[in-house]
Amino acid sequence: MKNLVVYSSKTGNTKKLAEAIYNYIPGEKEIYEIDKSPDPNDYTFVALGFHIEGGMPDPKSQEYMKKFNEDHELFLFFTHAADPESKEVKDAILEAKKLVKKARLVGLFNCLGEVPEKVVEEARKKEPVPEWVKNVDSAKGHPNEEDIKKMLKYLDSLDLPW
Ligand SMILES: Cc1cc2nc3c(=O)[nH]c(=O)nc-3n(C[C@H](O)[C@H](O)[C@H](O)COP(=O)(O)O)c2cc1C
Repeated sequence: MKNLVVYSSKTGNTKKLAEAIYNYIPGEKEIYEIDKSPDPNDYTFVALGFHIEGGMPDPKSQEYMKKFNEDHELFLFFTHAADPESKEVKDAILEAKKLVKKARLVGLFNCLGEVPEKVVEEARKKEPVPEWVKNVDSAKGHPNEEDIKKMLKYLDSLDLPW
């Protein structure tokens, strides 16, 4: 039984969650940034982390999601600036689920992730200003200890393969 954690993280938020999951997994495990990740087909359990860009799972993670097949138990986790209850986040979840439809999705966790000021400034220049930009103040400081605790508690509640 080999466990793999892979994350696509531009500014470090999703990486924080990935490291917490890596530390949580008992037994044989490996963690990789998405560009350096091996083929997931050598692993039974995979935790894949991504972030939202342009309202969707980031492009690298979308490509990676297409690699999963029915042999995989998959846990998805992601960070975003948009309101967790927004249509944008719900649509991103639907899209991710569609892309990984062959795998056995055992759980999905998402939370807010802080956006660097420079990125916010650039996004504010867009016409129209993306909806998620309105939520950047709420995203400040996330993911935090509480988010990580919540995710680990959620993992505890799942029927995971170890
Ligand atoms: C280029 C860029 C585009 C983004 N677009 C969105 C978006 O469309 N919707 C959203 O909710 N958050 C958006 N964000 C915010 C990120 O999803 C959020 O900060 C996330 O936590 C980043 O994760 P990371 O630090 O692992 O890269 C964007 C961030 C960047 C840098």
